[in-house]
This record gives sequence, structure tokens and C-alpha cells, in this order.
Amino acid sequence: MPDTQQTAKVALIGLGTVGQGVARLLLEQSERITRQAGRKIELIKAVVKHLDKPRDFSLPSSLLTDDLECVVQDPDISIVVELMGGIDPAGTIVNRLLESGKDIVTANKALLAEQGMALCDTARKRGCSIAFEAAVAGGIPIVANISQCLSANQITSIRAILNGTCNHILTEMESRNVDYASALREAQELGYAEADPTFDIDGTDTVQKLAILTQLAFGTRVHWREIPYQGIEKIDLEDLHFARQLGFRIKLLATAQLLGRELELHVAPTLVRIGSPLAEVHGARNAVDVAGDAVGSVFYEGYGAGQMPTASAVVADVIDTVVGRAALTFETLEPWKLLSHAPLVRDPAAAESCYYLRLRVEDRPSVLAEIAGVLGKKAISIASVIQPPTASENNGSVPLIIMTHQTTAGAIQEATETIAALPCLLSRGVCLPVLDGEPQV
Ligand SMILES: NC(=O)c1ccc[n+]([C@@H]2O[C@H](COP(=O)([O-])OP(=O)(O)OC[C@H]3O[C@@H](n4cnc5c(N)ncnc54)[C@H](OP(=O)(O)O)[C@@H]3O)[C@@H](O)[C@H]2O)c1
Repeated sequence: MPDTQQTAKVALIGLGTVGQGVARLLLEQSERITRQAGRKIELIKAVVKHLDKPRDFSLPSSLLTDDLECVVQDPDISIVVELMGGIDPAGTIVNRLLESGKDIVTANKALLAEQGMALCDTARKRGCSIAFEAAVAGGIPIVANISQCLSANQITSIRAILNGTCNHILTEMESRNVDYASALREAQELGYAEADPTFDIDGTDTVQKLAILTQLAFGTRVHWREIPYQGIEKIDLEDLHFARQLGFRIKLLATAQLLGRELELHVAPTLVRIGSPLAEVHGARNAVDVAGDAVGSVFYEGYGAGQMPTASAVVADVIDTVVGRAALTFETLEPWKLLSHAPLVRDPAAAESCYYLRLRVEDRPSVLAEIAGVLGKKAISIASVIQPPTASENNGSVPLIIMTHQTTAGAIQEATETIAALPCLLSRGVCLPVLDGEPQV
């Protein structure tokens, strides 16, 4: 049990975007935070890599250090907030801090997705807790909601927009008619996308977050590399136009769907019906649609990244740790425990959906019949087709857009591979799942 009299002494590791937001809240809102925690929380050290680096938020110089040992060795520091990011050396550092008996608060989804299990084991052995609300969907309190507020439910589905950079890019492309490369460049200039945005746009960031949510919601332990994922790099402006024509928007969606004893998991740019809550999440915002067998569908929306929204989640975790709530949750939840009754991950090839196909084909008669023939052989029926009128400057090629009825990921993949080998196909385009309808509860 926490000593309710003493000041709780906290150290930060990392004083970048999120670290500075956390420092600002802890120092400028000390009175409010003390009220919420029931005792004073004092930031006494902030470890950085480059001591002389200019920072937007200036800390008293006595707090700033590049010596990690002064945190590890200080018995007065009970909570360490890891905000340096990355896996190495963050994993080694967090492990050492746990071994020295410190509770951890982190926003590091990459670290949790890779080493969460081992770190939670160390924490349990040392009687410490790890709190990680900010690691998934930033300011949206989805970890607490799934693991505490919805704990009376069997969660049956999660559909989520978990990467603000991708959602910002897709929103700009659609609303301002700018191509992918320009939207990405603008996002970088505005600070929404990092200098190296690879892990955001290729879906890695989203799939790592989905792996964490899967563990929390279903008890199913799955490494993020085992979940099929694709990013937004191949989405063309014309996909957004055609999707709109069909009544959809394209969103990078993380999906977990419980089907009996099996769990379907994937991350993909997905056509979402215009007017549905997920389709109306714009810009850098995130959203999570969770369905539970008792509660039905619950929708959360807010900023999934950025300095202060993320700091909001981190400081709430610090307060929970001081109050003792984090220890209770950590102990009862055992986030990285393998549950014997947990659903098994379904063969990705069995996942069922309607699909959107954009192909570039020769501009000549009977091409549609050739492609429909391939789809037909795989028992895939066509729901609708868009063949834009032939333009004079088309160089003999036209886009062909096909919406299929429900089929499996395996069947559509085999069909698109066969289509790719047809002489009439000039370029492969994209094949995206379509989400249309309420989650199955
Ligand atoms: N940015 C967001 O909106 C956001 C949202 C949700 C979660 N997160 C997660 O939050 C974490 C921090 O992200 P961020 O955007 O704040 O990162 P960032 O701006 O790159 O800041 C990283 C900080 O860590 C320090 N650091 C790096 N290596 C270090 C080392 N070996 N020893 C000590 N300090 C070290 C850096 O020191 P110097 O400043 O001296 O170089 C810097 O202050 C990441 O895990 C990220 O995934 C971020």
C-alpha cells in the first residue's frame, strides 16, 4: 500500500514531445494533481540524451540530467515515467528500473508489443506495476475502459482508427484533393508525421497497438508480426474518389472480431460507410469502437497523439500509481498472462469481407468478362462495377473498379494473383476490405 503521507517522487526518462508535456502538467498543475492523488507528486529528475538541446518547456536546471544512474540508484524515486521511445535501450532500462523496485509508467507501444510479457513478469516478481494508458490511442482512455469499465463484458469486437498521421493524410487527400506524397509532406511540415514516418504509414504502429488491445480485451497473446497488416502507401487519390462514389471513405482500420472461439485480426485501409461513426473521424483524431456482450457498442473518439493529449494519459497513470489503483489493476489484470480460455487467432485466409478492387486494365472489349471469369472461378460474385468513360489521353489503359460480395481473404488473394497474370492487366492497383454494418455482438 502506498504511504499516504509522503510526497511521491517521480523521474522522467525522455523530455521530448510527450516528456515536456508531462513535465508541464506535473509542474504547472501541481495543486490539481495533488488533489487528485491525495498527496504531493514531485518531479525530481528528468533524464535526457542531449543536455544542451533547446527545449520549448524549460525545467529548473537541477532537474535535468543525462545520468540515468542517479534515477536507478535513488531509493526516494518510486515512479519512473519512460518516454524515450524505441526498444533498445528502453527495454534494458525499464527492466533495470523494475529490478530496483520502481513502478513504471510508459507510452511506448513498440516496447510493450515486443517485450511486454517479459517486463510484466519482472514487474510481478518485484511487486511493481507497469501502467501504459498512453501507449494506445494517446488521450483516449481505452486501456482503462477495456480493462476496468467494460470488465463485465465479453468483448466481441474492436474496430479502431489508431494512427493520427494516417488519418490526417487520408482526410487531407479526400477533402483537399491532394495526392498521397503531397499530403505526407504537408503532414511532416505540420509536425503530424515524423521525419521518418515509415512505422506510421506502413501500418506497424497500428498493428502494434492492436496486439496490445487484443491481449487486454481477449486475453489472446499474439505477436504483432503474426497479424496481417498493410499501410496506406498504396492508396491513390482515385481510390478515395471511387470509394466516395460508392458511398464510402477509406480509413486505416485495426479490427479484432470474435467469431465463436476464434479471433479475426487485421489492419488494413478499409472502406467504411459514409455517415457511420468511424467514417466521420477526421484529421489527426483516433477512434475506437468496442462491442461487448452486455454493453453493446461503445464509441470513443479523441486525439490519439500529440503532446498534451498523450501527457494527459501519462499523468493520469502517474496519479493512479500514486493512489494504488495501477497496482490493483496490474495485479488483477495481469496484462500479459496467457489465459487458458482465450480465443485462438483465426487463419487470416478465412477472414470474410466484401472487397474493393482497383485495377488498371487495357481499354478494349471483353476485359471485364475475363476478370469476372477469374472471380467466378473462386466463387466471388461482383456487387458493382465502375468503369469511368474512356478519356482521349488514356494511353490505352483505364481504371476498373469492382466491389465484390462477401468472400474470404484467401479466395480474393488467389483471385487477384491470377488476375495479375492476365495480359489485360496493366497494373495491379489495390484490394481493400469493406466494412459495412454494425459490429457483431
Ligand atoms: N509523440 C506522440 O504524440 C506520442 C503519442 C503516443 C505515444 N508516444 C510514445 O511516447 C514515447 C516518447 O515519444 P516522443 O514523441 O516524446 O519522443 P521524442 O520527442 O523523440 O523524445 C524522446 C526523448 O527521449 C530522450 N532519449 C532518447 N534516448 C535516450 C537515452 N538513451 N537516454 C536518455 N534519454 C533519451 C531524448 O533526449 P534528447 O531530447 O536529449 O534527445 C528525448 O528527450 C514513445 O514511446 C512514443 O511512441 C508518443
